[in-house]
Amino acid sequence: MDNKNISSFTNPKSYWLSSTEETNFPPLREDISVDVAIVGGGMVGITTAFLLKRGGLKVSVLESDHILQGVTAHTTGKLTSQHGLIYGKIKSQHGTEKAKQYAEANESAIKFISNIINEKQINCDFSSQSSFVYTQKDKYIGQINKEVEIASAMGINASYTETIPLPFSIKGAVEFKNQAQFHPLKYLLSLAEDIHGDGCNIFEMTPAVDMEKGTITRVITKNGYKVTAKKIIIASHYPFYDKANLYFSRIYVHRSYILAAKIKENFPGGMYINAEQPVRSLRSIPTEDGELIVFAGDHHKTGQGPNTINHYQNLEKFGNNIYTIESIPYYWSTQDCMPLDNLPHVGNLSENTPNIYIATGFRKWGMTNSTASAIILKDLIVNGSSPWGDVYNPSRFTPMASIKNFIVENFNVAEQFISGKVSRLPDELDVPVGDGKVLEIKGKRVGVYRDENNKLYFVDTTCPHLGCELKWNLAEKSWDCPCHGSRYTYKGEVLEGPTTKPLKRLYYN
Ligand code: FES
Repeated sequence: MDNKNISSFTNPKSYWLSSTEETNFPPLREDISVDVAIVGGGMVGITTAFLLKRGGLKVSVLESDHILQGVTAHTTGKLTSQHGLIYGKIKSQHGTEKAKQYAEANESAIKFISNIINEKQINCDFSSQSSFVYTQKDKYIGQINKEVEIASAMGINASYTETIPLPFSIKGAVEFKNQAQFHPLKYLLSLAEDIHGDGCNIFEMTPAVDMEKGTITRVITKNGYKVTAKKIIIASHYPFYDKANLYFSRIYVHRSYILAAKIKENFPGGMYINAEQPVRSLRSIPTEDGELIVFAGDHHKTGQGPNTINHYQNLEKFGNNIYTIESIPYYWSTQDCMPLDNLPHVGNLSENTPNIYIATGFRKWGMTNSTASAIILKDLIVNGSSPWGDVYNPSRFTPMASIKNFIVENFNVAEQFISGKVSRLPDELDVPVGDGKVLEIKGKRVGVYRDENNKLYFVDTTCPHLGCELKWNLAEKSWDCPCHGSRYTYKGEVLEGPTTKPLKRLYYN
């Protein structure tokens, strides 16, 4: 464990990744046929493949990198149906029945994970915890009381409290009992071990770049091989395929930040998040080197806002205000797909694609929503229906719930598109070591990064997805798109979709 030099925050490292081995599944090297092809080896892809294989189907998971390295490896690892003050929102926007389905799906996801851990005897630091949404502002008390009432009516063990065991005073909180926390990668790597073999496969370093729709569907991979399948599931976080543009205007993307710190005081246990902004979320992680405390939050839209290092510093300041931080061995950031109407999209990609399924838009609550998605997808494919299918249905039409957000978010995309094209740029090559800048070189916008050996990397900063101009992210040393959240390394390689194409490299030195 190396301890961070406070105030640098330029070498992020996830505890979940650092405490598990990288997988080494083979790439796809031939054309194959299976029952179900799953694009994306994150929590949805792995859990769905695990369930479908148990259901007797032949499944292939296609992962562009190594499995479980993306959002799944950069979570806080909370297993809770308490997704902020969500039940009041779902009930008012979508009605009581859908709020009930959402509660059942996410409570069932916690039970499912707990049962699998018991059945397979997975050592993944699972522990039962209470989860709290607290507020320090009077104006949220009404919503918190309402949340207790609605969540209780949905069958959740919810109650109101005016105290929580954290070292600051609050105005009120809603507590959900019988929630949990765990090490997500230790759990999912155990599921992955059960998938590969007996006609089922996990293929790594196998990016999917296109699909063929129809009665028989095909995934086309970057290396030219095809997977023919009766069904395809798009589980690539942000959909890698969206030719009808159904999702680009319905999902926007946030980045959030996480510190895992050693503190001088004793942490009381429990999982916490506030109702107000900026978001502050806490839990503990047991490790071989002692307990770490997670301080998370401080989100912003990807590619927008000031220097990304500020977000880590804000969390460090928050941690030090309530405890004494001794060291920060790990810190990392993550990216979340935010649906306009607060509900994930899980089910058929569209009404015209009966053999293609999608799972995306979990907001910041991917652990239970991914698991619920896997159960829904398995039920839709094996049984033809799911008891939670309605609330997650991607073809729902909820104009009142999403129209305001639709206008705001799509105006924001247009604004980013235009401002990126017309902003004035410096033309001097004064890029500090370890930093990146967009410069104007010979009348062209060029992204320049200078590495520790003074080597310069030049990329075209026009996003290959739909043409927005990229912004430099100093904390992660990446080029980020403010429109739909695609991200690239300083060399131009794809880090996160929806893009499937790298940036053009322009000059070399
Ligand atoms: Fe859509 Fe960049 S991700 S334009």
